[in-house]
Amino acid sequence: MALPSIEFSSKEKTDTLALGWFQQKVETPKGKGKAKDKVAPSAPQFFGKAHADVEGIAKRLKADAHFQGKPREVVLLRYYPAAGFSHVVLFGLGLAEKWSSELARQAGAALYLLQRQERLAKISCDAQSFLAKCDKAQAPRFLQAFCEGYLLAGYEYADLRTQRPESFQPTLLNLLNVDKSTELSAAAGKARVLVEAINFSRSLGDRPGNYATPALIANLIQKETKGTKIKCTIFDRARIQREKMGLLMGVGQGSAEDPRFIILEYKGAGASVAPIALVGKGISFDTGGISLKPSAKMEEMKYDMMGAATVAGVMLAAARMGLPINLTGYIAAAENMPGSKAQKPGDVMTSMNGKTVEITNTDAEGRLVLADALEYAQKSKPQCIIDYATLTGAVVIALGSAATGVMGNHPELMSRIKESSLATDERVWELPLFDEYGEFLKSSVADIKNSSDARDAGSSKAGWFLQFFVDPEVPWVHCDIAGSGMLRQDKNYFPRGFASGVMIRLTTHLLESWKKLGSVR
Ligand code: BES
Ligand code: MN
Ligand code: ZN
Repeated sequence: MALPSIEFSSKEKTDTLALGWFQQKVETPKGKGKAKDKVAPSAPQFFGKAHADVEGIAKRLKADAHFQGKPREVVLLRYYPAAGFSHVVLFGLGLAEKWSSELARQAGAALYLLQRQERLAKISCDAQSFLAKCDKAQAPRFLQAFCEGYLLAGYEYADLRTQRPESFQPTLLNLLNVDKSTELSAAAGKARVLVEAINFSRSLGDRPGNYATPALIANLIQKETKGTKIKCTIFDRARIQREKMGLLMGVGQGSAEDPRFIILEYKGAGASVAPIALVGKGISFDTGGISLKPSAKMEEMKYDMMGAATVAGVMLAAARMGLPINLTGYIAAAENMPGSKAQKPGDVMTSMNGKTVEITNTDAEGRLVLADALEYAQKSKPQCIIDYATLTGAVVIALGSAATGVMGNHPELMSRIKESSLATDERVWELPLFDEYGEFLKSSVADIKNSSDARDAGSSKAGWFLQFFVDPEVPWVHCDIAGSGMLRQDKNYFPRGFASGVMIRLTTHLLESWKKLGSVR
């Protein structure tokens, strides 16, 4: 699906002008009770020809107050001539003092969704109406966020419908009253690159399990990396066995679908620069294996490869931006099924580097495939490792879809991730890796067991298991996206029940600033 184009003061004439509108703070006069809800915003400042015409709108709004300028609020005034346009769209920005890049993103999405609903193929928007209130240095970041929301909102997954629901596709957003300065057009360009990568990642997640087996995931990623500077290498079953990835093999052995191990390499820096390693959990479907999951909502387990999709998305964004770093992605893909050859509770499996694991629960399979991938990633002596996984139900209980659970062994790397989180509005929440959690994973027959008998602190125990396979010298952060990777609550640019592609914006921001910040080691 082609994204609409975003242009700067293009000559193309549109019928409709869109204006961002801040909500006016209204002092409630003493003793007059409900007056607050009745008062509409007064005319905001616009910088184009629109200003005089818009004062008229403000007067009319004052009279009926059906549009107040709250975040995500939109209204189309058909046949309201202003500044040479036939129609006007107002989109709410909220109170000026609460204006933020996240609200800019949501405003962009609200504008797109209105355009789609009202079948307005092309629209012009006075960019000053939403940029004027942030300081000049912040304008590119706010514009980027606005464009991200605008472009993300158009995502739909309809590949498998024979009768596609009719859905109107807007084609143009023309931004007025901003010069196409290099910074602002770069910001809009970045938004496009990010959204292309994010939407690819979302579409991988939304594919049902039978349309995204480990082999199909590998092929889809390989196809998407063609024409970029990413080299894609795929290990089949025989190769995985030769590499002695016993834990990945073990998870895959109950399925008729063979596992895959995918390596993505992007070189944007000199050969002597150590790579940054990204690792992703790619369980194409998680039935739980012999420790079978209950049937309620089991279909959600098609999203158990969003970690893999995140790695692919970040690689694509970094390569298309030409970032001056070396970046390697490792994806461990398998289908977790209870077939006759499946591993059983009590079985002991051996990781690539020879560590033995007692499988006490075959549903704790993500940590197993990640352990082999982490060990493999360490062979290249990376500057750091970041892994992404829909790892635990416990993180959904703790954080919902509102944040990614993060844990790690390196405060500096963690604080960089938190800074990128603030800059991109993708929330992370740190969970601890106290040594106590490790005591639950002591096995009487192997080096470690893969799950504890008790369910408490499930996300931290899973993190602790991963840490057991990470060289303490390697800065490492684990991102549990079980809650944030698939939305359980609508957010205007992310519909509920679909993949979000979360952590691609955050990680790309981290990588963009990497060269300036220097290595963490
Ligand atoms: N893929 C699941 C985690 C998950 C749960 C993701 C809900 C998204 C939504 C993972 O493989 C799993 O089954 N984890 C178990 C671990 C337990 C057996 C120790 C869990 O969280 O229940
Ligand atoms: Mn599982
Ligand atoms: Zn899983």
